[in-house]
Amino acid sequence: MNAIKHYLQFKDFTRDEYAYLFERTRWIKEKFKRYEPHHPLFDRTLVMIFEKASTRTRLSFEAGMHQLGGSAIYLNTRDSQLGRGEPVEDAAQVISRMSDAVMIRTFEQSVIERFAENSRVPIINGLTNEYHPCQIMADIYTFIEHRGDIQGKTVAWIGDSNNMCNTWLQAAELLDFNVHVSTPPGYEIEPERAGLYGTNHFEQFADPMDACKGADLVTTDVWTSMGFEAENEERMKAFADWCVDEDMMQVAAADAVFMHCLPAHRGEEVTAGVIDGPQSVVWDEAENRLHAQKALLEYLVVGRVDS
Ligand code: CP
Ligand code: NVA
Repeated sequence: MNAIKHYLQFKDFTRDEYAYLFERTRWIKEKFKRYEPHHPLFDRTLVMIFEKASTRTRLSFEAGMHQLGGSAIYLNTRDSQLGRGEPVEDAAQVISRMSDAVMIRTFEQSVIERFAENSRVPIINGLTNEYHPCQIMADIYTFIEHRGDIQGKTVAWIGDSNNMCNTWLQAAELLDFNVHVSTPPGYEIEPERAGLYGTNHFEQFADPMDACKGADLVTTDVWTSMGFEAENEERMKAFADWCVDEDMMQVAAADAVFMHCLPAHRGEEVTAGVIDGPQSVVWDEAENRLHAQKALLEYLVVGRVDS
C-alpha cells in the first residue's frame, strides 16, 4: 500500500479538507471569471477513463486540466485494451506511470478500488454505480454559494437510492446536515452500500411531499441510472409519483433551491416548471463541476496551496 491520496468516495476527505476545497473553489472560480491564468499543473497529465457516457464530467475535467496548465487524455473501453479484458491491475500500473492523476467512470466501485491499489498517482471517482463524489462536492459548493453553510440544513432526496443518493448520505454524516429520503417501495436506501457510519443523519418518508416539507434543498435524479437500462420500463411505473413538482417545492422552505446533477428528463423525475423555474440552480451547479474539480485536481496533485 502506498500513501497516495485518492478520491474514491465522499468520505475519503475530512471536514477540514472540504473546508479548504470549498474555499479554494471560490478562489479558483473568481480567478477564472477575471480571466487570470492559474497554471499550478503545468506539464501535468490527467488520464480520463470512461466506461459510461458523459457530457459534464468529461468536459469539466478536460477543460479544467487545460485551464490549470496541464492536459487531459480521454480513454474509453471501446478503443482501449480495457475493453478487451486487460486486467485492471495491469492497466493501473501502466497508466499511472505515464500520468499525474487518473479519473475513472465505471460500473462497480470495486473496479476503481482495485485500480487505486495498483496506482502510483491519485485516482478520482468520476461516477460508479455506488457513488458520484465530484458531483456532490460541486452541489454542496453551489448550496454554499447561494445559501451559506450547509451544516444543520435539510436536503430532500426524491427518487432512486442511487449513486447520487448514497453520496448525499455520506456527505450528510461528514458535514453534519440532514437528508430526507423518499424512494418508491422496493428502491429504498441500503446504508451499508451507501458506506454510512451509522450516525443519524437521514430519515425516510413514504410520501415525497413529507420529505420535502421545510427542506432547504430539494434534489432528484433520473429514474434509471446508467447500467440499469434493462429495468427502465418497470422503473417508469414504480417512480411515477416521485416527480418533483411545484407542489413539492411549495411545501419546502420559502428560500429552498432545486438541484439536479443532469442530464434531466422533464416530465419524469422533475417538471419543466421546477427545473426551469426560479428556485432551480442547475446551471450554476453544472458550471461548478469545473471550478470544484480544478480545486480537487490541484489538491491531489500538488497539495494545499496558500493563495
Ligand atoms: N452530472 C454528470 O455527471 O453528468 P455527465 O453524465 O454528463 O458527466
Ligand atoms: N445516477 C445517474 C447520474 C448521471 C450523472 C447515473 O448514474 O446514470
